Amino acid sequence: MGTVLVPGSFDPIHLGHVDVVEQARAVFGSVVVAVMHNPAKTSGLFEADERVALAAQALAHLDGVTVASFTGLTVDAAADAGATVIVKGLRNAGDFEIEQQMAHNNAALTGVRTVFVPCRADLSHISSRFVREIAASGRPVDHLVPSRIAEALAGRFGDR
Ligand code: PNS
Repeated sequence: MGTVLVPGSFDPIHLGHVDVVEQARAVFGSVVVAVMHNPAKTSGLFEADERVALAAQALAHLDGVTVASFTGLTVDAAADAGATVIVKGLRNAGDFEIEQQMAHNNAALTGVRTVFVPCRADLSHISSRFVREIAASGRPVDHLVPSRIAEALAGRFGDR
């Protein structure tokens, strides 16, 4: 099977993301994880190159998975990556509402298809925003992110 794109902000990548990429790789031939970078958005925690490096470390156990950063539209990232399918994880009905809109917009733009995969139930409470908030408070995030990402967050926020 062909190449699929798993796009996101990945600020930072967490265990729910890793599960979605693992599911995508189990079904498709190769996976490009697209760290989407909006130069106008400056409210993030990690820079795009840091997010790419952290995602690559978190996914290093997977063959057939590469990580790259893209600016602009996800449909253009998919075309650049040679992907005709976008894979997105769904945690809940709230995710479905926005993801369905994005899937329809993306399909209307280039015909790219979107495939949804259900997030693992025991990981469906995780979001990058909550990871950032918990890490900023100085509490442990080892149950939410791969160990390397927890180290990077500890380095960013220091001991509090
Ligand atoms: O991890 P996130 O923040 O939920 O990822 C959202 C992301 C980056 C995949 C989405 O915002 C996106 O696709 N951004 C790129 C701009 C774009 O294509 N916008 C049109 C969507 S229909």
